[in-house]
Amino acid sequence: MQITPSILTADFCHLGKILDEAIDAGIDWIHMDVMDGNWVINRTITFGPAIIRSVREKLGPDIFIDCHLMIKNAEETWNQYVDAGVNMIIAHIEAVDDFPQFIKTLQGEGIQVGCVLNPDTSASEVLPLIADLDLVLVMSVVPGKGGQSFMPEMENKVRIFRKHIDEQINTGGRHTKLMIDGGIKSHNAALVSEWGIDIAVVGSGLINNTNSLKSNLKSIYDALNN
Ligand code: DX5
Ligand code: ZN
Repeated sequence: MQITPSILTADFCHLGKILDEAIDAGIDWIHMDVMDGNWVINRTITFGPAIIRSVREKLGPDIFIDCHLMIKNAEETWNQYVDAGVNMIIAHIEAVDDFPQFIKTLQGEGIQVGCVLNPDTSASEVLPLIADLDLVLVMSVVPGKGGQSFMPEMENKVRIFRKHIDEQINTGGRHTKLMIDGGIKSHNAALVSEWGIDIAVVGSGLINNTNSLKSNLKSIYDALNN
């Protein structure tokens, strides 16, 4: 299981140093959480294309950057994030009116598309889209901030997606990736890996004031390899 940092809990005055540490620790995928102050329940604003552009310039072209859009108007503004340098747009099924069209438009521009669903949204909302999706993201916290508690009740939803994607792959279909986001730490990383997750987003479990990113990442990989 691959680990991708969410930079949400980073001190943005030292973001460059955190990114250096992540790359030095072998990270090759960064998760950017964009919140517009309207869509998430606690009305948080995080950052926009300007920060993403700086991150892309800092990281160079080879690091994969996804952009988790927790915003009201993803269908109108996705191209600002693409112009800023992201490789993948992950949009909420609850926030996009015409997801099939959204996928077609972005993939037509060579951009990878993920669909993310909130804890209380059923897998059945996303299953019809999976054949065309590059990634499905299961939220294991309510979107809005880092450092929340993991929701183990997401197991069934993850297993439904895992089974569906495996059947899709086994019949020659797309290798859609399965991602989880929210409350992932060294104590539950092996659990979600066993559920069939391909990539786990880790925010406060990697970027915190207790240990370095490098040592936090090692704890997670040690837990996965035991
Ligand atoms: C929450 C974000 C997550 C969050 C993860 O709305 O989408 O990516 O930053 O942070 P942790 O791992 O601390 O829950
Ligand atoms: Zn996220």
